[in-house]
Amino acid sequence: MPDCAICNGTGWKPVEVDGVRRVERCDCWRAGVASRLMHEARIPPMYARCTLDNFYEYENDGLREALKHARKFVDSFPAVAKGLCLIGPPGIGKTHIAVGALRECILRTSTRGMFYDVRELLKTIRSTYNPVVRTAEMDVLRPVMEAELLVLDDLGAEKPSEWVEETMNLIVNTRYNERRPTIFTSNYEDVPEEGELNSLHVRVGFRLHSRLREMCEFLEYDGPDYRNMPPNAGADDLYKLWKAQPRRKLPVRSQGQVRAQLKTPKHEKTDLKWSGGRAGS
Ligand SMILES: Nc1ncnc2c1ncn2[C@@H]1O[C@H](COP(=O)(O)OP(=O)(O)OP(=O)(O)O)[C@@H](O)[C@H]1O
Ligand SMILES: [Mg+2]
Ligand SMILES: [Zn+2]
Repeated sequence: MPDCAICNGTGWKPVEVDGVRRVERCDCWRAGVASRLMHEARIPPMYARCTLDNFYEYENDGLREALKHARKFVDSFPAVAKGLCLIGPPGIGKTHIAVGALRECILRTSTRGMFYDVRELLKTIRSTYNPVVRTAEMDVLRPVMEAELLVLDDLGAEKPSEWVEETMNLIVNTRYNERRPTIFTSNYEDVPEEGELNSLHVRVGFRLHSRLREMCEFLEYDGPDYRNMPPNAGADDLYKLWKAQPRRKLPVRSQGQVRAQLKTPKHEKTDLKWSGGRAGS
């Protein structure tokens, strides 16, 4: 800070260790770095205040497990073997936990972190896409592929297509090869049933799904939609609402609609599964 009384704006402060005088980074410099990294992380303003500490915990084993793993991830970062994949219905705080973990990693270890909603990311890449010179496209992709920690929010929400699959595979595969951790969130459950078109593996493709299983801890949980809660609702209200309502299912969409989207004829379903089984290994 230009007006810092300790370092006079130089970013270095004099210290004396065992009678030897030297300089070290001033706290104002560290604060400046943290604030720059937070700004560059692109956390949406809606989630600007989300932390792991202000996330309400209640009698919900899945939710507790998710929060516990997020805390463990932050404590071990950057020495983490796997990222996280938070799965469940809307409004249960998946993005909140993902942002909370991202923020803490940035602040604790000066991590170059980045948040992207998958649909927004693909839209941005599409808008820069140039089939001849791929430089503009790489301007968007490179920071995403190289971020020390990446949050990819709402995986599977994008309309599936070959281009989407290819682009997502490129991003995730690059990060996987470079051992860079990623935190994903998704509404799509990881069900093994072959016929379930609303499952994660059908929504993201079998290759990406297989990578995800290798590179992430899967944390599926259920709960009430916090967005339906009255203002200032707390843990007790969440617990009551959750107990009062039955478990909600995946976003409801008729199978016909999904099939049309995927452009996969009914009789090809089994082939799809097999090709996925071979890829990604
Ligand atoms: N247990 C909780 N404690 C505190 N705030 C919560 C909790 N669960 C959700 N919220 C808040 O509710 C809002 C919705 O949560 P969030 O966006 O994280 O849900 P989501 O699971 O990502 O939903 P979607 O699947 O629709 O993306 C956010 O403002 C979040 O901070
Ligand atoms: Mg979300
Ligand atoms: Zn200073």
